[in-house]
Amino acid sequence: MSPERQNQYGFFREDGREYIMTAYETPRPWINYLSNDRFCALCSATGGGYAFFESAGYDRITGEYPPLTVFSDRPGRYIYLRDADTGEYWTANWQPIRKRPDRWESRHGQGYTSLESACNGIGSWVTYFVPLEDPLELWLITLRNESDRPRRLSMFCYVDWVLGNYVFHLVENAFAHLFQSVSFEPSQIIYASNRYWNVAGGAATSNPNLEWDKVAFMAGDYPVHGHDCSGEHFIGPFRGWGCPIAVEEGQCRNTQSHGRPSVGVLQHNLELQPGEERAFTTMVGVVLDRRDVLPLVRKYRHARVAESELARVRAYWDEYLGRVWVSTPERDFDLSENIWNKYQAWVTAHWARMDSYYIGGASILGFRDSWQDLLAAMVNDPLWAQERLSYLLSHQFADGGTLHNWDPRTNIGVRTGHSDDPLWLVMGMVNYLRETGDYAVLDTEVDYYDGPQGTVYEHMVKALDYTIRHRSERGLPLMGAADWNDALDQVGREGRGESVMVAEHLCWMLREMLPLVERRGEHERANHYRKEIERLQECVNAYFWEGKWYARATTDEGRVLGCSICSGGQIYLNAQSWAVLSGIATGERAFAAMDACWRLLDTPYGPALFLPAYQEPQRDVGIITRFAPGTKENGTIFNHAVMWAIMAECVLGRGDKAFEVWKKNNFIQLGRDADRYRAEPYVYSEYINGPESDDFGQGYFSWMTGTAAWAWRVCLDWMLGVRPDWDGLLVDPCLPAAWDRVHVRRPWRNAVYEIEIDNPEHVCKGTVTLEVDGRSIEGNLLPVFGDHATHEVRAVLHPAPVAVAQGA
Ligand code: GLC
Repeated sequence: MSPERQNQYGFFREDGREYIMTAYETPRPWINYLSNDRFCALCSATGGGYAFFESAGYDRITGEYPPLTVFSDRPGRYIYLRDADTGEYWTANWQPIRKRPDRWESRHGQGYTSLESACNGIGSWVTYFVPLEDPLELWLITLRNESDRPRRLSMFCYVDWVLGNYVFHLVENAFAHLFQSVSFEPSQIIYASNRYWNVAGGAATSNPNLEWDKVAFMAGDYPVHGHDCSGEHFIGPFRGWGCPIAVEEGQCRNTQSHGRPSVGVLQHNLELQPGEERAFTTMVGVVLDRRDVLPLVRKYRHARVAESELARVRAYWDEYLGRVWVSTPERDFDLSENIWNKYQAWVTAHWARMDSYYIGGASILGFRDSWQDLLAAMVNDPLWAQERLSYLLSHQFADGGTLHNWDPRTNIGVRTGHSDDPLWLVMGMVNYLRETGDYAVLDTEVDYYDGPQGTVYEHMVKALDYTIRHRSERGLPLMGAADWNDALDQVGREGRGESVMVAEHLCWMLREMLPLVERRGEHERANHYRKEIERLQECVNAYFWEGKWYARATTDEGRVLGCSICSGGQIYLNAQSWAVLSGIATGERAFAAMDACWRLLDTPYGPALFLPAYQEPQRDVGIITRFAPGTKENGTIFNHAVMWAIMAECVLGRGDKAFEVWKKNNFIQLGRDADRYRAEPYVYSEYINGPESDDFGQGYFSWMTGTAAWAWRVCLDWMLGVRPDWDGLLVDPCLPAAWDRVHVRRPWRNAVYEIEIDNPEHVCKGTVTLEVDGRSIEGNLLPVFGDHATHEVRAVLHPAPVAVAQGA
């Protein structure tokens, strides 16, 4: 069976591991992330994009363009080719010369992008990737003479240097070039350094009198017959990337570049007989110490080393992706959960919101974002998660509050007073503990940001107590600078506005903490938390139930947001879904709250965050009202929040609804209409433009979104229903009734559970009977084995009266 053609641009390879593009003019540049823990290269289907080392803001290596021209996808890592006999020239990438190739195909895989094309009788194959450990990107290039005459060719490998602070480079472009020093040396290596490094921020507000503490380099495994480091000379006056003078004339100018716009170009001349092919490696990297360049270049000059490093990248992903594996009747679901959503979640966890091709360029880590990104990573890589969480914990203050975000290089951050931040710490930790059973970590000491240490348990308790303390006169959590919805940023500035979502968040986290508090014998605290939960439940239901749904917030002046008399934002999705998740909405009310969302917020692409969009700026609400209607948080389908709605439907036991929403909101389905959706059809975007936008249905700000981790967990934990509890692995599926069987491989606490779930009577949710390794067990909780063995589980779903909603 040949794979389904997703759209006119591309499709998933049959095994799902590659997204294959057969057309180069995709609606937008479609990006891949090639990275290891320290080096990251964003790479489009045509090799567009740039690289950075650890920080996209401070240590940008290549790629120079104002963000406004991002849609042109330039510059990139280009391979210009020229026929010395005819003078014809083109690029193996298609971009930036854009000469129509005879053949073209590009594939994004996990950790690599491969591009094949043919033009003027020369076939070219390029694979870009970043090896697992070293700080560089490799281009494996093969050229083949597919014509019937001998060919004399020149190949020019090209990059554009930034060398340090990206924002400074952007804002002070001409000035920034004055400090760059790029030269081709007798070792046939281009060294690129910068004598000035503004690490303090954007433009030249201060002069730190520092040089960039890194050196970039570019080299190949072939004799270099020409080079250029000066962009002006290589490209020539009144020209652009599409027609560099040096390529047109077939000879680099052999320039060095000191104090002017700099590029890296290595020219290699070759002859190919008919049918002959030749392979080359080009590398572009960065090191802290100049002396490390040569050993790295020597290592990768062996073609076999580069090839075997690529094999290692593939093996890494085979193993990583194979840890959790699901099989359902729905191919989109499997493709997303097993491969692309999981891959995206890896990328968001490793690179946080550091950079996206479409937004960013910053160098900061967000507290709430990082905790959420960890949710998926901790299942696939608990050890990595453990390291990360102590790092995150150390950005909490001793009073329980936290930084909102910080610069990992300087560790300097801002304490904005976002009311939700501390609660994500609790969510992350609780999930980590249920994942690993590593209760000992609770008694380890971690620094507070402002000095003293506290145990991990104290960090968690303080986060809750901090939120409990910061409340309004009538006892509800204050909104502060904003809550999860960053754009509600004027609602509570004066310290009176309240957040319903934080009330729900707090209630949920208190419930999550209770078993842990009891386990530690802290009965007084447990009672206190119970009372808090009850109180929050009463208050939210008393003050915020608007008859048909829950309101979202009150402003400093006491205006209620998210109710039917509001002109914009009459009903907010999160206020309803989190009411269900937190257990604040129970019974009929829980169903009513979600039904109101389906009545008033649903779209063909999933439910909107709220509707209608704000048409006019409102000073007491904030920036959310200033975004064009139907963009960003203003009345869009904000995918992160869609996942909570799906989760809430699972809590309510409505598996058909959960699946319907998942399906229409998933990138694979959206990508079937790629001209409308535009964004990459293999990863989630942050949002989809809402009904009041001219671009309704368009995906925007792809890759870097909390949606990735949440989507992945909601599918695994709530739809398939295999999720860790404190003392066992729960099997509690909520399936579309039509599915008759699913399979889940779930590694958990040093054992692997191969779980087959049968749904012979086609129910969404019900009671589950379990057989483990051939023996039936009571209830739906699988025991902790921890024996490094694989256990076969057979689960059968039976119809049963669905329990009344009681929260997640
Ligand atoms: C963006 C931010 C995230 C925030 C969300 C809603 O995704 O990264 O922190 O919660 O927008 O405003």
